[in-house]
Amino acid sequence: QIAPSMLAADFLHLDKDVEIVNENADLFHLDIMDGVFVPNISYGFPVVEAIATVARKPMDAHLMIVHPEKYIERFARIGVSMLSFHLNATDKPAQTLLHIRETGMKAGLVINPDMPVDSLYPYLHLCDYIILMSVYAGFGGQKFIEHSIEKVKELRKLINETGSKALIEVDGGVTFETAPRLVKAGVDVLVSGNTVFSAPDPEQAI
Ligand code: DX5
Ligand code: ZN
Repeated sequence: QIAPSMLAADFLHLDKDVEIVNENADLFHLDIMDGVFVPNISYGFPVVEAIATVARKPMDAHLMIVHPEKYIERFARIGVSMLSFHLNATDKPAQTLLHIRETGMKAGLVINPDMPVDSLYPYLHLCDYIILMSVYAGFGGQKFIEHSIEKVKELRKLINETGSKALIEVDGGVTFETAPRLVKAGVDVLVSGNTVFSAPDPEQAI
């Protein structure tokens, strides 16, 4: 599946980029940053609500915020289908995953490049998907960290061994060069911001 990251969209003509995703891609990847968990601020509820009114593909919100548990109900009410947060953003990851599932959304756990795949093990049975960051969360347009390919293979193995049904999503530096290698390593969902929206023809790029 392809999940274009709306962080790289044209915010003055968001309707145009939303339509490109509706027509050509699988999910809307929505990056929510609070300037505390990551050193950047992106956009919040007004933008997500606006996209929700016209989205015909599921919305996949990636929370890069502290206290993600505080906003679960609100994202559910807006109509987000998939909600993920960083493992080290809360001291209650299991409870938070359960709470997300209770609202009917799919629950995802995210780790940055410096966190080992093993750290996911205790929570894997509560996850509908895992996001492996292939850049450090906070900014679009960064260079892919090569070690991510090994982590995908490792996670694929762990998922197969444990019988988990979690999908593997990779986020950051996904390009025409890294995408095929990621898919070969076992990725299910590719997030892509700049490769899609900075392309001369985003539809073609997807
Ligand atoms: C980074 C975000 C990504 C970002 C990806 O913190 O989580 O979703 O928008 O952008 P590209 O594809 O440009 O690396
Ligand atoms: Zn993201």
